[in-house]
Amino acid sequence: MMAPEDPGSVRRSQAWFGLDGKLGFVHRSKLYNQGYSASMFDGRPVIGIANSASDLAPCNAHLRQVAEAVKRGVLMAGGVPFEFPTISLGETLMRPSAMQFRNLMAMDVEETLRANPLDGVVLLGGCDKTVPAQLMGALSADLPMVMVTGGPMLNGKFQGCDAGSGTHVWQFSEEVRAGRMSREDFAAAEACLSRSAGHCTTMGTASTMACLTEALGLSLPGSAAIPAVDAQRNRVAEQAGGRIVEMVEEGLVPSSVVDRRSFENAVRVNAAIGGSTNAVVHLLAIAGRAEVDLSLDDFDKLAADVPLLVDLLPSGRFLMEEFFYAGGLPAVIRELGELLHTDAATVTGRCLGENCADAPNWRTDVVRPRAEPVHEAGAHTAVLRGSLAPDGAVIKVSAASEDLLRHTGPALVFDTIEEYHEQADSPDLPVDASTVLVVRGAGPAGYPGMPEIGNLAIPKKLLDAGVRDMVRITDGRMSGTSYGTVVLHVAPESARGGPLSLLRTGDRVTLDVPGRRIDMDVPDDELQRRVSGSAPAPTKPSASTESPAPSETASGYEWLYRTHVRQADTGADFDFLVGRRGHGVPRRHL
Ligand code: FES
Ligand code: MG
Repeated sequence: MMAPEDPGSVRRSQAWFGLDGKLGFVHRSKLYNQGYSASMFDGRPVIGIANSASDLAPCNAHLRQVAEAVKRGVLMAGGVPFEFPTISLGETLMRPSAMQFRNLMAMDVEETLRANPLDGVVLLGGCDKTVPAQLMGALSADLPMVMVTGGPMLNGKFQGCDAGSGTHVWQFSEEVRAGRMSREDFAAAEACLSRSAGHCTTMGTASTMACLTEALGLSLPGSAAIPAVDAQRNRVAEQAGGRIVEMVEEGLVPSSVVDRRSFENAVRVNAAIGGSTNAVVHLLAIAGRAEVDLSLDDFDKLAADVPLLVDLLPSGRFLMEEFFYAGGLPAVIRELGELLHTDAATVTGRCLGENCADAPNWRTDVVRPRAEPVHEAGAHTAVLRGSLAPDGAVIKVSAASEDLLRHTGPALVFDTIEEYHEQADSPDLPVDASTVLVVRGAGPAGYPGMPEIGNLAIPKKLLDAGVRDMVRITDGRMSGTSYGTVVLHVAPESARGGPLSLLRTGDRVTLDVPGRRIDMDVPDDELQRRVSGSAPAPTKPSASTESPAPSETASGYEWLYRTHVRQADTGADFDFLVGRRGHGVPRRHL
């Protein structure tokens, strides 16, 4: 609810600090305890620094130092910085999944911005969910904003070779299961993969979202790829601090920066960098906050003529450090040229094309010219539909095996990921290389929180036989660092009555990526019998005892989440959070 004295064109912070009498006294007086002097409240721009630094989110822990650089920039430009903490989401530690708390963090950011005397904000995030959460909250509040991402770690080094976050963990653990890597070497690799502050070194979700933030025009050009520990990271943070003060003076709000063109650019850039499948869910949610019409099918249509240019794991060979040395995202944007809307606005006040007009590419083996791409157009995230996923599913083509892109095989269905883990190493598991592994109950509402379980470990007996990939299907997600022929984000999810809930072990499933189809070969009358419960119950390989299926809770955040989360094909935001609510000055209580 807005107070009648909403100052309109007057600087927002002056609705607090510009007041006379008791109220102005209270607003200013308590801040004097920090040693601020009166000149801090004389009408200069008040800039929030939304900091998701946390010891529990190791990818973001160094943002405390980054915040100091932002403050310097704000002060030098004549603003007043106020750093505040936000909820943080550590991808590797949070259970049941960090994704379950993305919308909660977005609420925290949005409400904190609106409730406080801020004229603009610099967002500090890094780990997978923290960047989309901050963007979602800030776009709903529509306060002038710049995002500074934390930057990747230095390349992992193991036994003389580069080793990437996530991707090599999945590879090494399969090697251990296959008996080709010792447990000692596996243990030694742990520390070698995380050599410095920063987020994952592969083109996983964190690197992807940092690049897409830059493609959207919401961070400074070239900032996404700078390693967390490179001094340039702090210089760009200092610049962002200076720029946000100017943006407040210019009245440049995010709704004037991002529009449909920006999101089309982000979708195309995602294809060119071999970005994470998680970007699909996050971009849909972010677009929803910005009130931009973006659909799941746009990811396929818009990327159809975009080649894969960036040769980074998990789709290619290199890591983020090389991407930085190559020139980072501006090199990609320049290379994409007319495939992008170069006239799209950015936080610099210049358009995307101007920002990147002279961007060099120092490593054409890392950022390939369009004439020599890593993969021709069509290797991006494909959107599938069919009797198994009427509202859509996605597959990352560049991370899949070419010979499995058209495949029919019998389904082996598991209701929980725990059930699969319990049986994956059993010599009696009824699988061969043609089997389609299915894990359901992993959707937004069902798990809850749509965990990253899609790249199921290959069953031990197939691994021993040399099988390295097979078709896997889930209503959950997979880590952006993963690879394999994995169909993800099946919508509607099984827990909300999607056809996936009717699939039974032995049913034939057909994946047809070129035809953009995912179907189950079950006659309609049989499906009807299954819906009505009159079909004979399926026989299961065995019952799970490791961990019971989660029961639906009737209270708390989990209840809120299950009740209000939307399906993956629209971004898994809460239904009541979609859209902009602005940054009007709330009514006062004194
Ligand atoms: Fe944080 Fe990968 S775990 S970015
Ligand atoms: Mg991840």
